[in-house]
Amino acid sequence: MKNHIWRPLLVVIALVLAILIVRAIVVPDDFGVHEAGYMYGWYREGNIEEWKDFKVKYQGSAYCAGCHVDKVEDRERSRHGFIECENCHGPAIDHPEDPPALNIDTSRELCIRCHSWLPYPTSDRSSIPGIDPATHNPDMECVMCHDPHHPNLEDM
Ligand code: HEC
Ligand code: HEC
Ligand code: HEC
Ligand code: HEC
Repeated sequence: MKNHIWRPLLVVIALVLAILIVRAIVVPDDFGVHEAGYMYGWYREGNIEEWKDFKVKYQGSAYCAGCHVDKVEDRERSRHGFIECENCHGPAIDHPEDPPALNIDTSRELCIRCHSWLPYPTSDRSSIPGIDPATHNPDMECVMCHDPHHPNLEDM
């Protein structure tokens, strides 16, 4: 064969070898298709254990009832009944050991993230009762007038 054929062929062979070597070094041994076949595509088998070791952060509202039963009952009878306590107070997995008390956020931002009126006609976001934060009692915290655990207007 002529040189002008050999040279590009060698370059291609070198490239393929380089890719195979890098792959052997970089791709972990347990990467591939495992027992379930292609159902989950390609993944590292060790990743399953890594996710099992991932620490859960949230308890859910049923846990709070053991100690803050008044808040749980207030909320259950209200229009906020389906909002998890930890949505506003943060994760409680080791509370009351660590932290001994959860965060209490009385800022307008806490409420505005759900109640600032938004014009999204096709999503449920627009069916949450909305206010305009710039004109709805702008200089006061919402909780001065609304009970966060029982915000029903008819009970104000
Ligand atoms: C085993 C009992 C226990 C459980 C369960 C528990 N708490 Fe508490 N919580 C406490 C104690 C004790 C305090 C500190 C004393 C206090 O301020 O009432 C506290 C404090 C708090 C505070 C701060 C109160 C303040 O006045 O500073 C919040 C907010 C709170 N808890 C929310 C929650 C939420 C939300 C849950 C459920 C995810 C929960 N707690 C579950 C015992 C508990
Ligand atoms: C919509 C947000 C929101 C949700 C949901 C919520 N809280 Fe609160 N919580 C607040 C705010 C804001 C305050 C501070 C109120 C204030 O200072 O007037 C507060 C105060 C508290 C306090 C302090 C003591 C007190 O009497 O004010 C406790 C304890 C508490 N919440 C527990 C809970 C528990 C338990 C749940 C679930 C059953 C819950 N909260 C759900 C926003 C929320
Ligand atoms: C000075 C007291 C006061 C403060 C502060 C206040 N509100 Fe209100 N809010 C009211 C009253 C009274 C109503 C019922 C009459 C009305 O619609 O204006 C109301 C109505 C609402 C409604 C129902 C709107 C509807 O169309 O059904 C929402 C939601 C609301 N407020 C959220 C908030 C939020 C979020 C904040 C803080 C950013 C806040 N409010 C601050 C007094 C207050
Ligand atoms: C995670 C989203 C979320 C957060 C945060 C939240 N709310 Fe709400 N709130 C709702 C939803 C959803 C409803 C309406 C439920 C329904 O349609 O019955 C509601 C209802 C209300 C109402 C209307 C009650 C009525 O009778 O019309 C008021 C007032 C209110 N919330 C005030 C507040 C205040 C004050 C805060 C902050 C302390 C707050 N909300 C935080 C989701 C939220």
